[in-house]
Amino acid sequence: MLQSMSISGGVPLNGEVTVSGSKNLALPSLAASLLTDSPLTLRNVPRLSDIDSMLDLLSYLGTRIEKSENNSISMVTPDIKATDAPYDFVRKMRASILVLGPLIARCRRASVSLPGGCAIGARGVNLHISALEQMGADIVIDNGYIKASAPKGLFGCDIHFPISTVTGTENILMAASLAKGTTRIINAAMEPEVTALADLLILMGAKIEGHGGSIITIEGTDSLNGADFAIMPDRIETGTYAIAASVTNGNLILKNCIYDHLSQFFDTLRLAGIESKIISKTPDGLDNIEVHRSERDDRIRPVDVLTAPYPGFATDLQAQFMTLMTICNGTSSITENIFENRFMHVPELSRLGANISIHGKTAVVTGVRNLIGTQVMATDLRASVSLVLAGLMARGETIVNRLYHIDRGYENIDQKLLSCNARIERFTV
Ligand code: EPU
Repeated sequence: MLQSMSISGGVPLNGEVTVSGSKNLALPSLAASLLTDSPLTLRNVPRLSDIDSMLDLLSYLGTRIEKSENNSISMVTPDIKATDAPYDFVRKMRASILVLGPLIARCRRASVSLPGGCAIGARGVNLHISALEQMGADIVIDNGYIKASAPKGLFGCDIHFPISTVTGTENILMAASLAKGTTRIINAAMEPEVTALADLLILMGAKIEGHGGSIITIEGTDSLNGADFAIMPDRIETGTYAIAASVTNGNLILKNCIYDHLSQFFDTLRLAGIESKIISKTPDGLDNIEVHRSERDDRIRPVDVLTAPYPGFATDLQAQFMTLMTICNGTSSITENIFENRFMHVPELSRLGANISIHGKTAVVTGVRNLIGTQVMATDLRASVSLVLAGLMARGETIVNRLYHIDRGYENIDQKLLSCNARIERFTV
């Protein structure tokens, strides 16, 4: 049975939202548990269906998992019981590819279903495969599976990624931690999630330098130990709620965030007429950020953006930013440089009255005064939240169908929005 959300728009959101742990750090961190036979405890793991999908896969591979009430997960994998990731797991979640590096590193073989296409683009894994081949793995594609073997183990080498890949860099970081010799990843992804994964691996005994920059050096070790590690706040969730405050002309305090991870995004919001500032720190040193519209403007100002690898404008915030631009006072152009098919929210936003035309990689958004509620359909995680944001500001009632996408990446979104005065209701159709 499918779920939908009904939203009565036009209510300014006011109050506090506590940001959850990062989905895109939690996923590779869970996969890292395969690298050791010692216990790994992760704290602040968000409750999301993508996390459950990864835990199901790990459990199939032989990991014993204990979940606690307080969002901690303890895992131990004394032995790997299976070295294959079947299609049914990978089909549900592309990030299942993150077990490829750890399985080859620990078991010297792996068979992982090819992810296939996904809503936002083809998203190949050729760079993951060629990097592991350069490290000594023999890989064939057979019956839709990536079948890898490395009977003598993996060997460090220089890996030049021709384009920046987040999970590609993460797979190689994990594989290289247990390889023989030194690996250098050149043109490594610099996303905070990659850097934090390297921090976790270092805590587990890996020897890694340069993470956060474009060249990462990993000196392989024979074994890794367990660790106890807190997942950092989700920067994309933070950015999404910042836009929720902006589109509804409300005032939100976003608690437990890291401002620095979004400094370019907040600069872009400032150009659009949105103020943000750190108002206090948590005992753990995290930021509490206040976001509201600038008092000088009564309309949102148009801003042009281009998505790019970190520290550029995140593709994962493009759809939400486009929702903000639908009510700007002028014309904004939004260029998607990371994924070739990430404008699927455009026809749905148009159904709500937005004026958007697509020219290749660029969407040209001419602002209108108001969106008007109607039925829309979510197609992927970030597109679906952009429609919820649109519903929050649209006049009348918006119904967002196929809501399941949103539960892959937004913990407790209903409760978080309701606590800030949103008029929303979820129902099953
Ligand atoms: N690419 C290839 N070959 C490869 C790997 C990547 O052609 O072997 C291409 C992709 O098709 C894409 C580009 O390189 O055009 C960058 O893709 P990347 O590998 O960086 O993406 P990813 O690792 O699959 C992660 C996030 C995505 C996020 C992107 C970009 C996780 C689990 N997923 O995906 O998150 O959009 O990086 O920042 O970390 C989301 O959370 O909604 C989401 C889609």
